[in-house]
Amino acid sequence: MTIVVRATEPHEFRIAANAFSVALMNPPPSDERWQLSLPSWQNAPSFSAWDGVTCVGHGSHDIVDTTVPGGARLSTSAVTRVGVLPTHRRRGVGTGLMQALIDDAGQRNLTLMSLRASEATIYGRYGFGVAGDYCGATIDPGKVRPLNGATGAGSFRILDSGEIVDVVAPLYERVAHRRPGIVTRPLPWVTRLFRPATERSEPSFVVVHLDTVGQADGYAHYNLRWSDGMNAGSTGWGDVHELFGATDAVELALWQYLFDIDLVTRWQAVGRPVDDLVRFAARDRRGYQQTSMQDEQWLRLIDADAALQGRTYNQVSGSVVIEVSDPVVPANNARWRIGGGGAERSDDAPDLTVGIETIAAAYLGGPSWAALAGTGAVQVANAGAIAAADALFASRPYPHCGTFF
Ligand SMILES: CC(C)(COP(=O)(O)OP(=O)(O)OC[C@H]1O[C@@H](n2cnc3c(N)ncnc32)[C@H](O)[C@@H]1OP(=O)(O)O)[C@@H](O)C(=O)NCCC(=O)NCCS
Repeated sequence: MTIVVRATEPHEFRIAANAFSVALMNPPPSDERWQLSLPSWQNAPSFSAWDGVTCVGHGSHDIVDTTVPGGARLSTSAVTRVGVLPTHRRRGVGTGLMQALIDDAGQRNLTLMSLRASEATIYGRYGFGVAGDYCGATIDPGKVRPLNGATGAGSFRILDSGEIVDVVAPLYERVAHRRPGIVTRPLPWVTRLFRPATERSEPSFVVVHLDTVGQADGYAHYNLRWSDGMNAGSTGWGDVHELFGATDAVELALWQYLFDIDLVTRWQAVGRPVDDLVRFAARDRRGYQQTSMQDEQWLRLIDADAALQGRTYNQVSGSVVIEVSDPVVPANNARWRIGGGGAERSDDAPDLTVGIETIAAAYLGGPSWAALAGTGAVQVANAGAIAAADALFASRPYPHCGTFF
């Protein structure tokens, strides 16, 4: 029987959720869990694959904005909930779902498409490149404190669980967009990220930093637990889920607050930027041990023209002509001259020729053109163009998102 990929009707959301859950090796959601999830389905365009009356695959996207170099926020399809039942894999269903999402993003005039991949071998074929990595870290508070650069001005307040979403949702948007790759968060994402702790789960806290006039300018979301129950010799262990400050000094003050909590002898952090500021601020840098590094942002340019013109480039002399090929979105097959003043379409001979997945990897200014060229992903007509492209594109601090979706 032919498998049909089409928009999911609202009355089919739960059936599609069941298929997606099974694809991700989870049980179908309970009634209680489904009630919590439902709002997140209602504003996210959803596509599903049907074998007769059986839903065999699903993919959807939320519409968010991504901060790009220079600070503009560009419309982005945030792809999520992609899965195909094990009974129907490797027959083109996943490709059909991705095509539907890319077409839908184009029809909505979105500029970028972004996702977090379960496996790093899936999405390159659909024009995605890794535009940013993240790392995990274990931190010994006794070694890293006191931090250089933390502000001592201001105060802290631990939020009551009932106020967390209302306080944090606008605070995140106000303070977090300090790196390329940060995304706006639809409300259902915020409620998912800050779901209250249950009787059985570890206590979770949100502490807010207030400036000298009492205005919130950053927060940290963390868990605490005993290393060995409350037995003799047990100490506190903490997990940092996220931490954002309006300035470097506030960001470090929030870390300093965590490191000063009595009893806690070890912190673990996930999803940290590869150039995590706290590591550079540590009294003893070896107190911050990077434990993992992984691809974070898989990015695709849906409208390459809007994307390349939507970011800024470093003010250096010279320019490069880059030719892009995109087998899926025909309008992206073009050349741009990129210089310190911006990007514009060009008919000049290309200095560099790349696939859409490679310009996507370079787009936020993280991975260097030199490294991309080293892997053979860039056709180089002019040897000086790689250094020129790096000088134009590089963005520091590195790109980072910090939101899993
Ligand atoms: C990833 C997934 C959606 C792909 O669906 P699918 O219907 O099997 O994909 P397709 O049949 O369209 O495959 C297209 C191509 O991708 C390849 N591919 C698909 N899944 C792959 C994987 N996990 N690893 C490596 N290659 C993969 C196929 O071999 C095929 O290659 P080809 O074009 O060279 O023949 C499916 O395997 C799945 O549901 N996996 C578990 C859940 C999951 O990881 N979801 C993604 C969340 S980010």
